[in-house]
Amino acid sequence: MQKEGQEKKGNKVAVVSGSSSGIGLATSLALARNGFYTYATMRNLEKSAGIIDAAAKEKLPLQLVQLDVNDERSVNSAIAKITAEQGRIDVLVNNAGYGLFGALEDLSIEEIKAQYETNFFGLIRLTQAALPLMRKQNGGIIVNVGSVAGRIGFPGTAAYTSTKFALEGLTEAISYELEPFGIKVVIVEPGVIKTNFLNGMVVPRKTSDPNSPYLQLMQQMNATLSSMRENGSSSPEVVAKAVLQAVTVENPELRYLAGEDAVTLMEMRKKAPSDEEFRQMLKQNFSQH
Ligand SMILES: NC(=O)c1ccc[n+]([C@@H]2O[C@H](COP(=O)([O-])OP(=O)(O)OC[C@H]3O[C@@H](n4cnc5c(N)ncnc54)[C@H](OP(=O)(O)O)[C@@H]3O)[C@@H](O)[C@H]2O)c1
Repeated sequence: MQKEGQEKKGNKVAVVSGSSSGIGLATSLALARNGFYTYATMRNLEKSAGIIDAAAKEKLPLQLVQLDVNDERSVNSAIAKITAEQGRIDVLVNNAGYGLFGALEDLSIEEIKAQYETNFFGLIRLTQAALPLMRKQNGGIIVNVGSVAGRIGFPGTAAYTSTKFALEGLTEAISYELEPFGIKVVIVEPGVIKTNFLNGMVVPRKTSDPNSPYLQLMQQMNATLSSMRENGSSSPEVVAKAVLQAVTVENPELRYLAGEDAVTLMEMRKKAPSDEEFRQMLKQNFSQH
């Protein structure tokens, strides 16, 4: 663990958003273990005990920085600090995010906007802040943490799913824009991963209102997600490994699936002769839980 301002020159520099838990924490540690000087950023530094202990034990080149992707000042000040200390960002991992649970009709526009503010606009805010430096150094890689829910729409998560679909389009589009500057862009698409994600899901009260016309569907989705978490989910290290692979190979793929469930689902999708047949397969899958 490095002290404040005690930069280690010579290493490639990585910045990870949402490092307080789950995929962000595992990814920050994996990058630091593999020689990247890592800025593990989080919005609430009081949640840093876990990562501090792990980094100190292994003497990792890792430093904490406060960064809330929803707050322009916080983003700019984190990037200014990293620029002053290192003068470069080789790897930017856009990981911060959360899930909003509920059928579309049961969600308010404010709840949906808040979901987009973090998962989509927050990612854009941090990317835009980092890009001038990355362009100037003429190289680097941006890894967006998407989801298999950015390739396949799941009921009860329309807001979340649509942020991750939006991220797919953004990733593809900017991969062309940034190529002339030597900056690569990839998207990692995890399946269900054992993190705080499901416990931390925002579940608006209307979603569990007994009068909601979607109550039965939401209860079924809840059971499906819990069962997937218990029986089929992968560890956050699986995602960290995919990120590490993307940032260490010479020619990374545009997309990396992470987790066996993600691979199986995408294979099902590819093999399905039509969208309708895939929908029927997915519905059958849900009803088995
Ligand atoms: N777990 C899964 O099954 C799964 C599957 C596919 C994709 N993903 C994606 O993976 C990413 C990480 O999720 P996770 O599974 O590791 O869940 P997690 O353990 O809940 O971690 C989410 C991280 O995002 C942070 N965060 C939320 N809002 C933020 C903000 N405004 N600014 C900065 N950080 C913020 C959280 O900080 P706090 O601790 O302060 O809340 C936390 O560090 C998310 O983008 C998620 O959509 C997860």
